[in-house]
Amino acid sequence: MRRRRYYTGRDFHRAINIEELRGVARRCLPRFSLEYLEGGAEDEVTLRRNRSVFEEIAFLPRTLVGVGQRDLSTELFGTRIALPFVIAPTGLNGMLRHRADFSLARAAKTAGIPFTLGTLGTAKIEDLVAEVGPVWFQVYNMRAREFWERLVQRADQAGCPALLVTSDAPVFGNREWDVRNYAAPAKLTFRNKLEVLLHPRWLLDVMIRQGGPRFENLTEILPKGDTRAVKGAKYVTAQLDPTLNWDDVRALRKLWPRALVVKGIMTVEDARTALDLGADGIVLTNHGGRQLDGAVSPMEILPEVADAVGNRLTILIDSGFRRGADIAKALALGARAVLLGRATLYGVAVGGEAGAAHALKILRSEFDRVMALLGCTSVRDLGPHLVRWPTHTDRPSSLRHMQGTAGMR
Ligand code: LAC
Repeated sequence: MRRRRYYTGRDFHRAINIEELRGVARRCLPRFSLEYLEGGAEDEVTLRRNRSVFEEIAFLPRTLVGVGQRDLSTELFGTRIALPFVIAPTGLNGMLRHRADFSLARAAKTAGIPFTLGTLGTAKIEDLVAEVGPVWFQVYNMRAREFWERLVQRADQAGCPALLVTSDAPVFGNREWDVRNYAAPAKLTFRNKLEVLLHPRWLLDVMIRQGGPRFENLTEILPKGDTRAVKGAKYVTAQLDPTLNWDDVRALRKLWPRALVVKGIMTVEDARTALDLGADGIVLTNHGGRQLDGAVSPMEILPEVADAVGNRLTILIDSGFRRGADIAKALALGARAVLLGRATLYGVAVGGEAGAAHALKILRSEFDRVMALLGCTSVRDLGPHLVRWPTHTDRPSSLRHMQGTAGMR
């Protein structure tokens, strides 16, 4: 039975799952900030589908295999990581909590997994790397091309092991809550100003200490170099370059010496093109339901993409993962690791580094338990033979075909 308990920010550690952590975050954040974290595009059909898809996929557990020792680690781009999780790039993290990018990066480091700093993140890449160590970097298609290239060079100089290029945001998705929350660009509605006053702890932590979050990596392209996130959010989203195309990925491949990952792939055809252009990996994602409403869940295309390119390309996935069981399903169907967005953002919003660590602890413990109950002692044991997807008539043959790839990870 599902019961929800709501705690205040201070006792977030009592939250026993991500949904409860979300309940805490809902109390701690003013509406516009919460909606930025949680919202999807238009009618949020895809946002809901990202969750409901997991209910359709059922496990077929193996039994009596002896699961006393379980190894949750995996290898990503030549590096062993403690868990098949990566913290996803998300913009405006500092709007949830002071220094949120640093806290997420530290929690990731302690858990032994990568953190990805986004172009629209609120920590300067050089500062973050100096303080925490190497992080992955995500690059957006900015109109100012030289700036775009410079960003990539900066990530290279900082020694980032992987570069994610986002392909699903030629333009920003239609997020209606964002329209409603502002009376004019950079001007919150009266109701939201009131919300800010009703959340004094957030006001103090996010807006008063150090004067609010900043787009620390975008100084050069912001009007008068004003990096304040509240001021620049609308301007920055208008700087996304809609001409982004495969030639840019080709160009990035020449610029970027380490792992190159195309984030935003949703078809077999595009996965094949990414492979042909020399990408090392892809992220199957619908951007957490924030871009094209009506898109399928990436879980629905995972089996066929794994079938087509899974032995030559590292497949990562995100959008809607809230349980260790969800992660196990994705790995069973051919993903190497799962990117976590909102799940760890709820944590950082309520408890900074400790909150993010708590979210990771919950997911680790759930994933470990599911592994044991599935009869798996290593993530390599997770394969399509452990899941059934009855409502997708095209799945069985594709999954049967995949049986041989189960041990490849
Ligand atoms: C978003 C952008 C920042 O989804 O990726 O809000």
